[in-house]
Amino acid sequence: MNQPHKGAASQRATGTISEEHLNLWRIILLLDRLQKDMDQQGSEPDEVLINAILDYFEHYSERVQSRPNEILLFERLRARAGGTFEELDELEADYLTAHDALQHLRVLLHRCVEHWPEGGEELCTALDRFNQTLRRHILLEEQILIPQALKVLTEADWTAIAEARDQYNDPLFGERVREEFRDLRHRIINLAPEHVGGLGISHPTRMEVPPDRHEMLTIQGLVSSYGRIQVLHEVDLTIRRGEIVSLVGANGAGKSTLLMALSGLQPVDAGRVTYEGEDLRRWPSHRRVAQGIIQVPEGRQVFRDMTVHDNLLMGAYTRGRGQEVEQDLERVYGRFPILRQKQRQLAGMLSGGQQQMLVMGRALMARPRLLLLDEPSMGLAPLVVEEIFDIIRELNQEGITIFLVEQNASQALAASHRGYVLEAGRVVLEGRGEDLLENEQVRAAYLGI
Ligand SMILES: Nc1ncnc2c1ncn2[C@@H]1O[C@H](COP(=O)(O)OP(=O)(O)O)[C@@H](O)[C@H]1O
Ligand SMILES: [Mg+2]
Repeated sequence: MNQPHKGAASQRATGTISEEHLNLWRIILLLDRLQKDMDQQGSEPDEVLINAILDYFEHYSERVQSRPNEILLFERLRARAGGTFEELDELEADYLTAHDALQHLRVLLHRCVEHWPEGGEELCTALDRFNQTLRRHILLEEQILIPQALKVLTEADWTAIAEARDQYNDPLFGERVREEFRDLRHRIINLAPEHVGGLGISHPTRMEVPPDRHEMLTIQGLVSSYGRIQVLHEVDLTIRRGEIVSLVGANGAGKSTLLMALSGLQPVDAGRVTYEGEDLRRWPSHRRVAQGIIQVPEGRQVFRDMTVHDNLLMGAYTRGRGQEVEQDLERVYGRFPILRQKQRQLAGMLSGGQQQMLVMGRALMARPRLLLLDEPSMGLAPLVVEEIFDIIRELNQEGITIFLVEQNASQALAASHRGYVLEAGRVVLEGRGEDLLENEQVRAAYLGI
């Protein structure tokens, strides 16, 4: 019978949830202190520390509920509560928007550190808003969700929930994930200054090296063909979160085919592709876009008969025309002043370099997490090429992971953390960008040295 019953499984589950909430709450308080220091004392934010805190939140939202619609606790609760359960909708929505919100904070943070004290106020406001959302989220869970769950769920429900979560190695139950959280907490405590209760270990306060903890995209044994002609032969390639990875190779090597396969526009015959732990091959291309995999195809494909402004809006067409889109548009204009200046002109009238900026701006409107750039420097004058590579580095500094396909091997490798060399559809070399630049084989084949 569906008799509510408070047994061992429910106690264990809710106990761990509350414990994690407590840890989270401490970190929220710390962030609050740091934000007040900035706001009231005028102290410059420590980018490394704040990013470590954002990493914690991000890990939390990803690990706890990486599949929000499949969370058994929510599902059972909905079934047992009957009718609608608005608080649940709200909690789920929080998880879905968390990544974007965090990404936005990282961008504001980086800008603020670069242009200090400019941008401080904007960052403080955004941090404050984020903090409030997080607090509300925890309070909703503690005060409404858990009491309600204890009331209506059966012990069998709780056991099923615990089992489902064990499978995902969820932080609430899984040992390995709990360890990851411990590590992230230690990092925060080490970095935090003494006056807020940290150990104040000295460190550069700016982000120099991107974090490379997570494999974002893993390609294993990928095979792709046009009809009966096989173009990609068991390609293996990995991109970690925060990296710039370049893929260089001669014309016809299969670089664009690989990017199209990642966007879901080119069939894959064999191999595995994993994006943030999920099997990418099962996703239709629109889902890939929604999850932040955004491709900028080669050849600067602008809508020639539309204005610059409308071209940019096309990048956000799935998102309607809300205030967020306006803000993103403003940000793109901030980054590419030339686009603002030419916003009413037809895109077909722009120069090659301006069109390249336009297609990159359009991609930014879709809020990329992994930006796939196909030959962005092709056919552009040297000074414009420099500018494009600078922008790529800046976007990466703001947290966007970049997969850069180029025939222009020297500049691409110099701008990248790691690189791969593709020859006739096969990866023949891989390594750190600078090492590949020194490599004799690469120098002979691609750099003409
Ligand atoms: N639509 C297509 N139909 C048939 N063959 C194609 C098509 N597109 C590309 N190819 C062939 O696939 C190979 C790889 O092309 P591509 O991926 O465009 O190389 P890259 O981007 O490295 O220059 C080339 O031999 C090319 O001729
Ligand atoms: Mg190509």
